[in-house]
Amino acid sequence: MSDNFDVVIIGGGPGGYVAAIRAAQLGLSVACVEMRGALGGTCLNIGCMPSKALLHASELFEEAGHGMEKFGIKCGKPAIDIARLMASKDETVKALTDGVAFLLKKNKVEYIEGRGSIPAAGSVNVALTAGGERMLAAKNIVIATGSDVATLPGIDIDEKQIVSSTGALSLPKVPKHLVVIGGGVIGLELGSVWKRLGADVTVIEFMDRITPEMDGEVSKTFARILKKQGFTFNLKSKVTGVKKTKTTLTVTFEPAAGGEAKSVKCDRVLVAVGRKPYTEGLGLKEVGVNMTDRGQVEIDEHFQTSVKGIYAIGDVVRGAMLAHKAEDEGTAVAEIIAGFAGHVNYDAIPGVIYTMPEVASVGKSEEALKADGVAYTVGKFPFTANSRAKVNRQTDGFVKILSCAASDKILGAHIIGADAGNMIAELTLAVEKGLTAEDIAYCCHAHPTETEAVREAAMATDGRAVHM
Ligand code: NAI
Repeated sequence: MSDNFDVVIIGGGPGGYVAAIRAAQLGLSVACVEMRGALGGTCLNIGCMPSKALLHASELFEEAGHGMEKFGIKCGKPAIDIARLMASKDETVKALTDGVAFLLKKNKVEYIEGRGSIPAAGSVNVALTAGGERMLAAKNIVIATGSDVATLPGIDIDEKQIVSSTGALSLPKVPKHLVVIGGGVIGLELGSVWKRLGADVTVIEFMDRITPEMDGEVSKTFARILKKQGFTFNLKSKVTGVKKTKTTLTVTFEPAAGGEAKSVKCDRVLVAVGRKPYTEGLGLKEVGVNMTDRGQVEIDEHFQTSVKGIYAIGDVVRGAMLAHKAEDEGTAVAEIIAGFAGHVNYDAIPGVIYTMPEVASVGKSEEALKADGVAYTVGKFPFTANSRAKVNRQTDGFVKILSCAASDKILGAHIIGADAGNMIAELTLAVEKGLTAEDIAYCCHAHPTETEAVREAAMATDGRAVHM
């Protein structure tokens, strides 16, 4: 067993394991160091995958309870077996993380279990999970250590009563009242899970709207739909503390601009106010790797840090904290290390919120285009006018395409609708390849599918939607 590698990757999440496989495909000798005890990072272990397992199951539960009678299907009042639900989620996660281990093996990447640190450029020390240490010589090092939950001062996440996303994925019973701090992606996805399973859900959000980064019109529609589902929102509100007794939590909050405090009682609090880059114990400062003032590893356009031969990708660097962004950076950095021209187009990275309906976007929002002074055209098409959505009785939402007023190029696209996460792929390709709204409008879309709404929205940028 050699301790010399062309590339040593620290972190086995979507950024790290993809970089490892791509580097190995390109003929490099690769090791991937991971301390969690399983590959796949936050995404597979305590993020995207377990949350999607719970979102899918809770959606079935909601459908069985409320959504089927209209189709003439009567199945009585469904009951939830939380232990089985959690076991099913854990089985899925295990199969997926084992799958990544298989892929590393297949590609001859050495998976080293332990905590990696960088004592000097060119070497990685691994405190092995099994005990002892192993010093690796690495021509190139890739930091792909991801991110960790951000907390609020004075609020102690115990993962029982006050939970982060990690605890919220494993609650042993349905809360009576869940207060969610932060109306972002995690708060709304996990809030949806527990709402569907029977909890009252109150969201406290600092900004004047939920998912503040999103296109304003989409965010407004999204909030309206979630309110209809029973969510309670307190916007422009700042949480000042959580008082804890054995069975009750009292969350106090006040207007973000200052003013009279209010409080709400509940039995669980989910803190979902963002995530922060995870660089603890890597020894970055000592080895001379520069950090930004936001705690991210500073990189150049080739993912190289201030130290030659040390690269960084994924949640530890600038940009959206998304698994697919990290994957793309993983591919790009491997290709750069192997001597090719790796590249990521940050304008064409989709974002999806897996609620019901889903919300998906790519490129610019209307607000961003206005701020940049870009002249644009809006094409919008509602799912109420799409035949398949009507048949499925899933008519909430719309497709909105923003195209350049001068060139017709698609600059941004936003979908709120049942299958938005899949539908955004076509528009991501359009943004990536510089397609125009007319290109989409003249492309045949299968009937009857919800994707016809995408085509109609493209047609609507030129005032010629047919079914509206
Ligand atoms: P987020 O950045 O999406 O949302 C955090 C929200 O908390 C923001 O709306 C912010 O204004 C609010 N906030 C901050 N401080 C607050 C305070 N003191 N009181 C009240 N509100 C406060 O972060 P989130 O939801 O924690 O997710 C973390 C990361 O994980 C994000 O980068 C997200 O993109 C990623 N993620 C992506 C998913 C997906 O792609 N479907 C799923 C889950 C997470």
